[in-house]
Amino acid sequence: MAAFAQITLGETIKEDSYIAPMIDARRMEVYTAFFDHQNIRKSKIEPHIFTEDSFKEISQPIVLCGDGCEKAKDLFASRENIEMKKTIVLYWPKAGNVEKSAKNVAARYGDIEIKPIDEVNTEDLQSHDNYILGCSTVGAATWDSSENKDPWPAFFKACEQVGISEKNIALFGLGDQVRWPDHFVDGLSIIYEQIKKQSKNIVGKWSVKGYDHVQSEAQEGDYFVGLALDEDQQEELSDERIEKWIKQIKAEF
Ligand SMILES: Cc1cc2nc3c(=O)[nH]c(=O)nc-3n(C[C@H](O)[C@H](O)[C@H](O)COP(=O)(O)O)c2cc1C
Repeated sequence: MAAFAQITLGETIKEDSYIAPMIDARRMEVYTAFFDHQNIRKSKIEPHIFTEDSFKEISQPIVLCGDGCEKAKDLFASRENIEMKKTIVLYWPKAGNVEKSAKNVAARYGDIEIKPIDEVNTEDLQSHDNYILGCSTVGAATWDSSENKDPWPAFFKACEQVGISEKNIALFGLGDQVRWPDHFVDGLSIIYEQIKKQSKNIVGKWSVKGYDHVQSEAQEGDYFVGLALDEDQQEELSDERIEKWIKQIKAEF
């Protein structure tokens, strides 16, 4: 739990704030404890069942993180000193499988913002702690070309200007493992390589088990660098994959 708090401490946390990593337990329970800005634990690690009065005795700012936040978010929405990590789904291209999958990810994640990257502004990038980035693969050859109308390069520049080194980032990519078995979800690796230059907190690696591709630039060992989705050949597996991946990244964010 201290390691969890340490990740959040890497971000801009005020000196008088407490960090409360929330680890989802069974039923209504959440395991949590408070850590100060030097990562010194200030309370016992114990299970809580939240009520409207939970943590009312603490007046300083509290930053909540972890998958247990879901159980707390409605109860604490009106508490001015309690802040929750914010997540946004950003994707490109629009109107196809990537958009469909991005909407699916956002709906299953629950109550988060979603935008195509050509509509993203500085405020969106600054005000969110976690980004979920979705892309497709349609051939990387034109990536750096001046004919490339793809908004990803502009997005990476915007990220550079904002400074995303402390943001947590998870990636998902669409591809077709039967028609492009040697380049399955290669686009995911392009996004990964660009983001890796700017943030060290990339989460959401996904096992290659269950896919029938030959080669992928997005594969490192037995894992893809993010969630691989194939709406062309394995559409029936997408919901289950997304559901499982969201559980994973919520714990990693
Ligand atoms: C011209 C073209 C090239 C493609 N190249 C690849 C590829 O290299 N690797 C891959 O896994 N999928 C490839 N695909 C499949 C797409 O990535 C896949 O169909 C994806 O779901 C498309 O997402 P979209 O509907 O949002 O555009 C290609 C599709 C097209 C139309």
